[in-house]
Amino acid sequence: MANRSLVSISDYSKEKILQILDKAADFEKNPNRKTLDGKVVATLFFEPSTRTRLSFETAVNRLGGRVIGFADKSTTSGTKGETLKDTIKMVSNYADLIVMRNPIEGAARYASEVSSVPIVNAGDGANQHPTQTMLDLYSIKKTQGKLENLKICMVGDLKYGRTVHSLLMAMSHFNPTFSFIAPDELKMPDEYKTFCDEHGIKYEEHSELSEANIADCDILYMTRVQKERFTDLFEYERVKDVYTLRNKMLDNTKPTMRILHPLPRVNEIDQDVDNNEKAYYFEQARNGVFARQAVICDLLGL
Ligand code: CP
Repeated sequence: MANRSLVSISDYSKEKILQILDKAADFEKNPNRKTLDGKVVATLFFEPSTRTRLSFETAVNRLGGRVIGFADKSTTSGTKGETLKDTIKMVSNYADLIVMRNPIEGAARYASEVSSVPIVNAGDGANQHPTQTMLDLYSIKKTQGKLENLKICMVGDLKYGRTVHSLLMAMSHFNPTFSFIAPDELKMPDEYKTFCDEHGIKYEEHSELSEANIADCDILYMTRVQKERFTDLFEYERVKDVYTLRNKMLDNTKPTMRILHPLPRVNEIDQDVDNNEKAYYFEQARNGVFARQAVICDLLGL
């Protein structure tokens, strides 16, 4: 890489992950500081986002920095044919750090190779979403008091869900047991199961979201079926409503179990779950500000 960037969660060692989580806890105690005074952060979103972009921008604003960027690629010179390379080279003339979401897998890695300032991957297609993983780890540690030896059930679109791919890799440092619950069409890809095998990580696979299959988990990580990744919309229609988590399914889960979801949710978690004390997804999204403050400051060496 031409500079310090966060492209994949594998760019972080276990020690770095723990250091960033400590830093995030510190920011949660006091998120309003002048650490980024004089710094400009660019948020380039070539794909829709609510949480990631706004929490990055909140993170920068609360630290006294300034934000430039776009949330809609149709307003950029990309529509006139400008390449990603030229866009990144231009923006790295203006900003100290670039946060980029792009639908193409590998776009963030490519951007990091042509940029003169750090790139933060805010999601590249179905590949990686490393800062989501940092806030997920922060949320897991906060709710479970530890990261080690937890059973994590990943539910839904495990094929296209970049958040589960990043989380699986990060958790490999902490001796997890995984349960992958997905319909056949959306199963965890072989490359990630091979990764588990190579790292001695236990996992099981199920096709049914049943009370029995979630009874012993510590974290129930729900995901949305990623409509935007399907090339065949008939296939999406067939699987889009495959699972809905309902309140009554949670009665026999562990009292300490918490439900996470990167959001947005469509209908995979019934609204009646929101008031259950095991629902943690809105707090999880709030934790994104602190985790992203920690990531930005680390990349800028502050
Ligand atoms: N979790 C997440 O990436 O949400 P957004 O798509 O709203 O940014």
